[in-house]
Amino acid sequence: MHTIDQYRESFLEELNKITTEKEPKNLYEPINYILQLGGKRLRPILALMTADVFETDFKKAIPAAMAVEVFHNFSLVHDDIMDDAPLRRGKATVHEKWDINTGILSGDAMLIEAYRLLEQYDGEQYKKLNVLFSTTALQVCEGQQYDVDFETRDDVTIPEYLKMIEYKTAVLVAAAMKMGAIIAETTVENEDLIYDFGKNLGIAFQLQDDYLDAFGDPKTFGKQVGGDIIENKKTYLYLKALELSSNAEQNSLDQLFSIQPTNNNDKIATVKVIFEESKADVATKQAIEDYTQKAFNVLDKLEIPATNKEALKQFGLWLMTRKV
Ligand code: IPE
Ligand code: IPE
Ligand code: MG
Ligand code: MG
Ligand code: MG
Repeated sequence: MHTIDQYRESFLEELNKITTEKEPKNLYEPINYILQLGGKRLRPILALMTADVFETDFKKAIPAAMAVEVFHNFSLVHDDIMDDAPLRRGKATVHEKWDINTGILSGDAMLIEAYRLLEQYDGEQYKKLNVLFSTTALQVCEGQQYDVDFETRDDVTIPEYLKMIEYKTAVLVAAAMKMGAIIAETTVENEDLIYDFGKNLGIAFQLQDDYLDAFGDPKTFGKQVGGDIIENKKTYLYLKALELSSNAEQNSLDQLFSIQPTNNNDKIATVKVIFEESKADVATKQAIEDYTQKAFNVLDKLEIPATNKEALKQFGLWLMTRKV
């Protein structure tokens, strides 16, 4: 196995090669901007790590890791338009720095580029990667649509929310890992187990994203703190707060989450107090731990060396403590 830094460095080396100046500038500059803006590189690291876990040269998985990261960044550019988000990784979002049309087209080009990156694989492997990628990409769209639909619904349930985050976020984490497994030519059982590991980790990851959106440190979080509250997002924090609070607080939450999205500091402050007083924050932290543990339970069934399992586990634990 290699270190996380080694996966990241190999990935970034390759990323530098594909983010060169091209014409038309207004199409490619935003693409290079978002791809070079940083980020945790969680998904490509997991793709490379998985190939390594199944004892294949992890560098074989670099094109797939790149495809997943380019797809992820495409989804962020469009997501930031949909969520009216001003900040991404501590900098202006693409549609703020350029405009909405630029964000739409640069995003489209990134989606196409992601597919092109997969063309570096051959035959049956290419087919398998492609089928997985398309299935996943469509699920992400479905998850994103549910996320938006939920903004204007007042009867969203926790199972519905969990399905939504599975689709918008977890399946891509899962697919990144399964792609590493496909490239390593391991068994179908292992492919499915690692997918399941990634899916549960991805659910924990999105729960934490929701938590940090309300309680993250504005100085380090890199996104607008309170953005989900402004946009009436029906997050786990919100749904748990509704479940756990008194009638008066339920009404107040309902009321606050039915107003048109505007940047309202009073709303953010009031909602955060309700999230804390109802202990929805504690419940969310618990759910993050539970889904991380669910992921670890899947690892027990995997037939790989113990040190390789340990590497995956350490990565999962590190994710749980992240602040960005
Ligand atoms: C942000 O993903 C979108 C979610 C699915 C929560 P990341 O938190 O992985 O974003 P970067 O790539 O590290 O900025
Ligand atoms: C994003 O979910 C999921 C996708 C981009 C597919 P969020 O809207 O919560 O992500 P952030 O918080 O903007 O990164
Ligand atoms: Mg968003
Ligand atoms: Mg969103
Ligand atoms: Mg978020």
